[in-house]
Amino acid sequence: MRRTRLVAGNWKMHGSRASNQALLDALLAEIGVPAGAECAVCPPFPYLQQVSERLRGTPIAWGAQNVSEHAQGAHTGEVSAAMLREFGCRYVIVGHSERRQLYGEGDAQVAAKFAAARGAGLTPILCVGETLQEREAGRTEEVVARQLDEVLKKASFEDAVLAYEPVWAIGTGRTATPQQAQEVHAFLRKRVSNATRILYGGSVKAQSAAAIFAMPDVDGGLIGGASLAATEFLAIVKAGGQ
Ligand code: PGA
Repeated sequence: MRRTRLVAGNWKMHGSRASNQALLDALLAEIGVPAGAECAVCPPFPYLQQVSERLRGTPIAWGAQNVSEHAQGAHTGEVSAAMLREFGCRYVIVGHSERRQLYGEGDAQVAAKFAAARGAGLTPILCVGETLQEREAGRTEEVVARQLDEVLKKASFEDAVLAYEPVWAIGTGRTATPQQAQEVHAFLRKRVSNATRILYGGSVKAQSAAAIFAMPDVDGGLIGGASLAATEFLAIVKAGGQ
């Protein structure tokens, strides 16, 4: 079956009012009406207002990079799913490996965040992926299955998005080969519906995107570094539309 590809930019902790405006202007100037692939950007929280104002009514959707598992209350520094909805977010990244590794998010917390996002009508982009050590120990499938199953225990996946992001490929310039990606995507596919989009993430560049997207179970990409340069990101979106 043909799933519409999604190319989502994860800006991480980058940007400023001025650079965001320049990037969005450059994307909108070239994006082309139905680009073939859906396109979204995920800026840091404080820029959601700016991004939503600029992107409303355009072919580019937006989302956040994290969300609280709680609905409201005494949670200093946290942002709820309902707040993200107020800024027009369609997507929210959940369980990114940087959140898991640097901020101690475990599978149960990630599952709670996923459920909170769903409950508020957001589309979570759930990230799973193994470290280099886990890959070398032959544990890739066990790790991604554990990360995904914890979420499936708690919430239905329905039209949520899954992203396979091998930790060793994130920000390292070392991309998984299309075959390595396809193997894990095919494994994950057995646990979700045939309609679920499974994105690949990890050092995707304009040059490598087409070969990865050509794999039967790769339905687009979650793009970090390359989403900060308009020409590079546009070329990846275009590859997603082929
Ligand atoms: P990268 O990041 O493209 O810079 O490797 C991907 C991600 O972390 O989502």
